[in-house]
Amino acid sequence: MISPSRPVVLITGASSGIGLELSRLFAAGGYALALAARRTAELNQLAEELKAAHGTRVTLFPLDLAQPGAARDLWDETEKANLQIEVLVNNAGVGVAGAFIDTDPLALETMVRLNMEALTMLTRHALPGMRRRGRGRILNVGSVVGYQPGGPGMAVYYATKSYVLSFSRALTSELRGTGITVTALCPGTTRTEFAGRAGLEEGRLFRWLRPMDARTVARAGYRGLHAGRAIVIPGLFNKLLAIAGELPPRQIALAVNRILLS
Ligand SMILES: NC(=O)c1ccc[n+]([C@@H]2O[C@H](COP(=O)([O-])OP(=O)(O)OC[C@H]3O[C@@H](n4cnc5c(N)ncnc54)[C@H](OP(=O)(O)O)[C@@H]3O)[C@@H](O)[C@H]2O)c1
Repeated sequence: MISPSRPVVLITGASSGIGLELSRLFAAGGYALALAARRTAELNQLAEELKAAHGTRVTLFPLDLAQPGAARDLWDETEKANLQIEVLVNNAGVGVAGAFIDTDPLALETMVRLNMEALTMLTRHALPGMRRRGRGRILNVGSVVGYQPGGPGMAVYYATKSYVLSFSRALTSELRGTGITVTALCPGTTRTEFAGRAGLEEGRLFRWLRPMDARTVARAGYRGLHAGRAIVIPGLFNKLLAIAGELPPRQIALAVNRILLS
């Protein structure tokens, strides 16, 4: 297995936004990197930058994680490359906005596969090695919307992020005492390619709730992961949003979300 002196982190969705900033932080922190996303040119450019800045070893895995069996394929590739994954960052994710009844079924399927299935199965593949070694860290990028009772106008995205939160919390409890930690990073609106891809740039959500920059969000996640924290919500306003989402009566939060997403 490669470089026991430099621990290896596998980061999905490294070609832009929060994943790209996390990659920079891990490289500066002395990790060797295994980076996955679809866009090869962006991955190559990042790899060159990180090698030049930190002498980091970077292995690229260009693939579509929304394809059936993609998590298994990616894991097999890391094993073929002899990489021992000490840290797994499940960051790749997309949002789809609009009334559920009118949403392209294929876009929904892609989102469900990427946001939940790939994250779950990569975690499943990574854990046995971590258990054998008695150590390991997992960072699951959820969202502060995972705390909300629902997102009318973005119903499936909100539900996928509630899944990430629930799944991560349960694993944190299951793995207590094993030396393996699971951290859910729950950002609020963040300046990345996400809003543009989801068609949310002009919507109230991103106009009314001032986006944080991706570097700040990534830094909070990086620190929280290394501190072994179960949940990281960057920014005071987002912490309040998380609390507000869980307060009764939940009809109020639903009504507010409906306004924000219409
Ligand atoms: N931005 C926000 O406001 C916000 C708020 C809360 C949570 N989040 C979460 O943060 C995470 C990162 O998003 P971001 O904001 O950094 O957005 P982003 O800039 O759009 O980054 C998304 C990343 O996921 C990758 N990706 C998308 N589809 C993929 C696929 N089918 N297979 C493999 N990789 C794929 C993208 O790379 P390729 O296109 O090259 O594949 C890109 O690297 C997501 O889980 C998102 O839900 C974002």
